[in-house]
Amino acid sequence: MLKGKFIGVKEGANVFVLERTFEVRQAKKVIVRATAQGVYFLQINGKRVGDAFLAPGWTSYQKTLQVQEYDVTELVQEGENTLSVTVGEGWCCGPLAWDSRRYYERQMSVCADVLADGKLLVCTDENWTARESYIRKSGIYDGETQDFTAERKPLTPVAVPFRKNTLIPQMCAPVRTVCRLPVKEVIRTPEGDLVYDFGQNIAGVAEIRTDADFSGTLTLRFAEILVKGNFYTENLRSAKATDSFTVQGEAVLSPEFTFHGFRYLKLEGAELPADKITALVRHTDLVRTGTLETDDARFNRLYQNVIWGQRGNFVDIPTDCPQRDERLGWTGDINAFCRTAAYNYDIRSFMKKWLRSLRDDQREDGTIPHVAPDILGWADTDAMWCDAVTMVPWTLYEMYGDLSFLSDNFAAMKKFIAARERAMEDGLVARGHEFGDWLALDKEVMEPESPFGRTDNYFLSNVLHSMSLSVVARAAKLLGKEKAEKKYSRKYESHLKKMRREYFTRSGRLAFDTITAQAVALHFNIVPEKQREKLAAALNENVLRHGCRVTTGFIGTPFLLYALADNGYFDTACKLLLNNEYPGWLYEVDMGATTIWERWNSLTPDGMPNPDGMNSYNHYAYGSVMEFVYRRIAGIEAASAGFEKVTVRPCPCKGLARVSASYDSVRGKICAGYEEKGDEIVYFAEVPENVEAQLILPGEEPVALSAGKHTFVRKRQEETQE
Ligand code: BGC
Repeated sequence: MLKGKFIGVKEGANVFVLERTFEVRQAKKVIVRATAQGVYFLQINGKRVGDAFLAPGWTSYQKTLQVQEYDVTELVQEGENTLSVTVGEGWCCGPLAWDSRRYYERQMSVCADVLADGKLLVCTDENWTARESYIRKSGIYDGETQDFTAERKPLTPVAVPFRKNTLIPQMCAPVRTVCRLPVKEVIRTPEGDLVYDFGQNIAGVAEIRTDADFSGTLTLRFAEILVKGNFYTENLRSAKATDSFTVQGEAVLSPEFTFHGFRYLKLEGAELPADKITALVRHTDLVRTGTLETDDARFNRLYQNVIWGQRGNFVDIPTDCPQRDERLGWTGDINAFCRTAAYNYDIRSFMKKWLRSLRDDQREDGTIPHVAPDILGWADTDAMWCDAVTMVPWTLYEMYGDLSFLSDNFAAMKKFIAARERAMEDGLVARGHEFGDWLALDKEVMEPESPFGRTDNYFLSNVLHSMSLSVVARAAKLLGKEKAEKKYSRKYESHLKKMRREYFTRSGRLAFDTITAQAVALHFNIVPEKQREKLAAALNENVLRHGCRVTTGFIGTPFLLYALADNGYFDTACKLLLNNEYPGWLYEVDMGATTIWERWNSLTPDGMPNPDGMNSYNHYAYGSVMEFVYRRIAGIEAASAGFEKVTVRPCPCKGLARVSASYDSVRGKICAGYEEKGDEIVYFAEVPENVEAQLILPGEEPVALSAGKHTFVRKRQEETQE
């Protein structure tokens, strides 16, 4: 796929440039194919090629490295041209995670071919010239140092051994500068710092413009929040998140090989007017598919926070957070957030790429890494985290109707099930690492510092295991694998029986009293059917007793509102959703959040940050609540995979007088919602031509819905449930 050799430099520079001239004679089309161990960008005759950043992207490099293709026809001239490739450490060669590990232990190198009308003109080899760059140093976490005044010394190119069977074409849209945000406010902090506020927590970089008379070094630091008005970076942990530019005269400056998670920028070295500074929002360039709007400005802000949480964490891979020394593809986080993400944006190819990394890094014994691509060297069978291998493909299949999500991952799913079975005793999961109901607040009284919830870990693992088994059984059926379908259906039935025997008393009482335990037992149909009502009532009471505040963690939260709403307690679900007391979703909004926080108590009511080292203000996991709003409140629901059949079921939520949503499904656009008008409610629905749609209004029988726009006016119902 590439003819060139992988070329690095002998001197081991942190960033370097490789260069080569080539002749073009009457070519119709000139392309460059390239990739790197590290991150890179190309220039032809001094002009940057394309608008992608952080190429070749992050994959499980031992097994997969993407190759990019660029059409450079417009950039080349007849006769002599120069191709330069600038390479930085990136994910492949730079330090990663809190302990600065270099997991891949690779020497930075680049490989490129130039082709004219399909014929190779030139490709990388030891005869290219190498030198230092104006980028002196760059790292994903630490930021970038550019010096346009420094001498750029020549370096020595060397060939770097590389197994080319890992090369594949780029799988999804690249990271781009997707939008630009102006400075909202210039602040002089109590500590005397000059700080620019962009009004929005983002992932990206800043662009700075200097004038002709400027000479010196500008240093930029990045933060998500101010504490007591001061610039606060403690939650970035060891990530330096610092860019610096040394320059003389007029320039437009921004880094190439790094990104930051920030809302605030601290500038040293000059006092620049606000219009010289812009935030560049950078993430994978995805197509938006969902919209949602209500009459409530605070709720709309929450929705925007979920959107921005996704934007800030879909930077080539789905990450936990974009700011601290982490930014890893945590499997549990995306398992929680995947369906919401798929409502918001078309994430098909983005997730295909990530699932490939997940499979690449699955261990021979079937265990699943906690992060993909794996750089922690840590794989196990944790509930929710490791169930990503079954649940994420299943969710994507349901959203897009694309069977390849199941066929691509089927073997990996089965291997994982076998690994989990090895962690069992008497048919129930009883061993192995568990994050449990991560960051739930229900254990606080006993262990205030604990990141773990109170719900029994292996109970959760067994619940999620039953979900994984049912996914494998259903996937087997869809893929026409009859034997496997039977096998996994039997496993599912027998596992369910064992769970019921172990976790429910004879009269049907659940052995655990946490909200999370009750919610998942209901949502995943673990509760014996005849005890469902009783358990739902117990859950409802439990939530009311907690003042409708959210205390659940990464496992309970994504399913809690469904467990309530789907079992007769829709109003309680809405109260939880709209509660603005601490802890809860709207509490964060009231505290000024512009993205979703990692913890319910990332900021405590006194405005102080959680002192724990692990505290991010841009973590999408709890943003998973938005799928509930699309599906159960606005009422846009797939009744069959890929929205071939659609149920439109708007359901007024007390506290939101108007909700309207749209979703651009693979079958076309679906809109739904309602608006209270006096003593009436107007429901609306829109479905595309080629779907079979059903409308269900509160308290009414389903009716068929034809293509096009519809409205239905009904008298408002009196409050039923308290
Ligand atoms: C990450 C997560 C992740 C968790 C695992 C944290 O450091 O930020 O969101 O899922 O560890 O427990």
